[in-house]
Amino acid sequence: MQDSDGWQRVAALADLADDAALPAKLGNRRIALYRLDGKVHALDDVCTHALALLSQGFIEGGAVECPLHGARFDIATGRCLAPPATVDLRTYEVRIEGGEVFVRAAD
Ligand code: FES
Repeated sequence: MQDSDGWQRVAALADLADDAALPAKLGNRRIALYRLDGKVHALDDVCTHALALLSQGFIEGGAVECPLHGARFDIATGRCLAPPATVDLRTYEVRIEGGEVFVRAAD
């Protein structure tokens, strides 16, 4: 459920482990949450190359590697770092409140 500013609760902070991905839903959109050095990031979960789910990929050095063909994306910025993908991932604003993770839905 979104509030009037577009924020939606997507997970409990306790469910996020460091250097691991947690898939979540933001409205109809599949997103992935990542916790790096205590900071939570939210990005689209669907690879921009051929629709694999990045939350099933490998996390290393602040980047996630797609499990299907190996494209890499920066978790903090969504920037595409390695082919075959060429399009960056969309990122979302994150807010932590009362042990809950809120993400702001974009249009
Ligand atoms: S689906 Fe992700 S690199 Fe091809």
